[in-house]
Amino acid sequence: MKIIRAKDYNDMSRKAANIISAQIIMKPHCVLGLATGSTPIGIYEQLVEWYKKGDLDFSEVTTLNLDEYKGIARENEQSYYFFMNEKLFSKVNINPKRTFLPDGMEPDSGKACADYNRIIEAAGGVDLQLLGLGHNGHIGFNEPGMAFEAQTHCVNLTESTMKANQRFFASADEVPKQAYTMGIKTIMQAKKILVVVSGEDKAAIVKEAFLGTITPKIQASVLQLHNDVTLVADEAALSLI
Ligand code: F6R
Repeated sequence: MKIIRAKDYNDMSRKAANIISAQIIMKPHCVLGLATGSTPIGIYEQLVEWYKKGDLDFSEVTTLNLDEYKGIARENEQSYYFFMNEKLFSKVNINPKRTFLPDGMEPDSGKACADYNRIIEAAGGVDLQLLGLGHNGHIGFNEPGMAFEAQTHCVNLTESTMKANQRFFASADEVPKQAYTMGIKTIMQAKKILVVVSGEDKAAIVKEAFLGTITPKIQASVLQLHNDVTLVADEAALSLI
């Protein structure tokens, strides 16, 4: 694993955006695996800025997001679709028909997951997968457990994840309890993986995930087995390693 040390959040965002930008320049018709959450916001802002300057062209890019809440409509401000549209898709020249997320409004989990697996397969796999890291070591919504789930599946979110997500909802009752997420095998099949982490509150999990035992209890630890992972993290997140 390559570790790139950034001074702070802004520096992390720029460095990671540079890697994504290089991918798009090298392969304009690439497939990007994308993440939501707080960490990638600065990256998307940077990519939009470069697009506006004329340095980036998204016209041939396909995107596959990691996850979506189950039971939340696209128009809902808390949906991951809404997030992606607001932060990136509506601000660059990407073809909306080539932007994919699991369908949170499909109540049949088996169908929602099978449909998304088919979309991933049809896209031909992911060239560069962007990942954030949960405090419990989750990637996508692959929560700590007894196994690594291979493909897209429906997860019951853990208490700690629901608590972390609560900041985005008006009340605890509104926080979704389930989500559809890409599986670990799909993530591991990405040609390149880019993990971004910021903040002292993630320092312990960074150490455990990337230097500790490989275990489904810390889902991100499986990334130690991938041969092209780049971790871009700020000094605070790297303070324990
Ligand atoms: C989001 C996702 C999650 C987040 C993780 C970190 O699509 O897949 O795994 O990347 O929860 O979230 P933040 O960046 O908000 O700390």
